[in-house]
Amino acid sequence: MQPFLPFTRPSIDADSIAAVGDVLRSGQLASGPKVQAFEAALAVYLGGNRQVRVMTSATAGLEMALEVAGIGAGDEVIVPAMSFAASANVVARLRATPKFVDIDLYTRNINVEQIRAAMTAKTRAIMPVHFAGLPVDMDGIYGLAKEQGLRVIEDAAHAIGSRFQDKPIGSFGDLVVFSFHPNKNMTSIEGGAISTADPQAAQLFEQYRFHGIKRNIAGEIDVMFPGAKSNLSDIAAQVGIDQLRRLDGFNARRRHLAGRYFEEFAGYSGVVLPARGDSGHSWHMFQVLIDFRARGMTRPAFQKIMHDRGIGIGVHYPSIPSLKYYQELGYRDEDTPVAARVGRETVTLPLFPAMSDEDVVRVCRELRAVLK
Ligand SMILES: Cc1ncc(COP(=O)(O)O)c(C=O)c1O
Repeated sequence: MQPFLPFTRPSIDADSIAAVGDVLRSGQLASGPKVQAFEAALAVYLGGNRQVRVMTSATAGLEMALEVAGIGAGDEVIVPAMSFAASANVVARLRATPKFVDIDLYTRNINVEQIRAAMTAKTRAIMPVHFAGLPVDMDGIYGLAKEQGLRVIEDAAHAIGSRFQDKPIGSFGDLVVFSFHPNKNMTSIEGGAISTADPQAAQLFEQYRFHGIKRNIAGEIDVMFPGAKSNLSDIAAQVGIDQLRRLDGFNARRRHLAGRYFEEFAGYSGVVLPARGDSGHSWHMFQVLIDFRARGMTRPAFQKIMHDRGIGIGVHYPSIPSLKYYQELGYRDEDTPVAARVGRETVTLPLFPAMSDEDVVRVCRELRAVLK
């Protein structure tokens, strides 16, 4: 039997492990020079004219981005109905209201044409999610935001290394938030980053992530507001520095493997394939839809059979309005029917840089056999 193939696995090399050893021996473990170096490297990667600040997760970053944008009780934020729950949870945690907009069946991205109908006098921001690494139509989003005076908080958790019209996601735009969770295209174990053009916002992020503390020129501290405690460690930052160096190589490999999936599935009608996008797609995940109802099979049963055949299958994600907390608030899954369908039918196939082309062939062969 061939080794088990998980749906994702980070690639950490020996150099990175050695570099972490050096940080551990240095005695400087919490936020220090490695955090600064990681932020500087990310700023260079994003073209050199942005401020980048890192924190312990994209969730922490999204929450502070919303706060810095002034979002709070009574405000509404446009969120796609298909995303990880964090995209809406951060809005709810600030006592603001997520307004869910449906997605496109193939891109799995927010349907930009439907945003206007979801806007009210209380709408303050749009939160596009570059789903699975495929950039949202940013001309459409920023055009609407400008016209309506809205902030844009890009949930770019899936999109480090993605490009829109050949510009890196995070190299332009309002507040752009990345995730470096181990499942993402690069990792800092846990971690996230915000990219902004505004140095004052960047200073505020430093305060939000560390108790609201500001130092005066003499180095004395003061507390400006009750901030969070979500600063990154130097150990995590060292991992991030090494991963960033390898990111473009990782993403090239992901694009190649995604291309192999399209070849293997050519002419097969058992699954709905995702949109192919262009070379700006970073292929954080490769997801197909399977009509489990029509097949009289449940998704967990499918996952179990594939698992028994040596293949890990993920689910990313149930639609947000279908989740208990949002149901209890009165949201209805039927109001965003495409997201509801994707939420029921989506499965994530293995895709990570260390996979071989033969692994793709094996996944497709097993999937076809199970669905026959
Ligand atoms: C779309 C999206 N937004 C936000 C997050 C939160 O990222 P983190 O785990 O870094 O907080 C995730 C994590 O999977 C995500 O998929």
